[in-house]
Amino acid sequence: MPTLGVLLSGRGSNFRAIAGAIDAGKLDTEIAVVISNRENAPAIEHARERGLNAIVLPSKNLEREAYDRLVVAELRRNRVDLVILAGYMRILSGYFLREFPLRILNIHPSLLPAFPGLDAQHQAIAHGVKFSGCTVHFVDEGLDSGPIVAQAVVPVLDADTAETLAARILVEEHRIYPQAIALVLSGSYRIEGRRVLAADARG
Ligand code: GRF
Repeated sequence: MPTLGVLLSGRGSNFRAIAGAIDAGKLDTEIAVVISNRENAPAIEHARERGLNAIVLPSKNLEREAYDRLVVAELRRNRVDLVILAGYMRILSGYFLREFPLRILNIHPSLLPAFPGLDAQHQAIAHGVKFSGCTVHFVDEGLDSGPIVAQAVVPVLDADTAETLAARILVEEHRIYPQAIALVLSGSYRIEGRRVLAADARG
């Protein structure tokens, strides 16, 4: 069975949604390891309560690639097939990307390519868009820029703050991330340029 390695830095609600989907039999995989680069990430405690292998690898004061070599070694040791970024607040080095080509997924709280980077929900409100949402994408060398696997749309309401919009988007994140992971694990897709297409879609 292909396995997941989850990288995170904080709250870990997406991690919980993924673990819940596995427990519910909706996602046929195992989480081989959960790695946090921050010592105080609440998700680590939660992962351990679930009986998962959860470790903290502090990234502070380490150069990007030196740190990524530690992470990749841990992923390899745990025989991880697919890397899941779930609120992981670090940019990956070229080394990491080359070690897992098209084997790293991220979720971002906007409809990419709109509003990449930090505070995407705040960016959406400030820009005045009427709809926003979330995007699951393969990770490449750019910022939130790889081929898109799944997206979900939510309305932006007049009364919204960045916080209320983030909460509405998060519900969709928890729904589409497990689905996107299931698709990638199934291998039933192909990539044409930037497009991730169902394997049986006509070319
Ligand atoms: C989510 O909004 C996700 O889209 C972004 O970081 C946040 C992580 O939240 N990449 P959580 O730690 O999964 O609760």
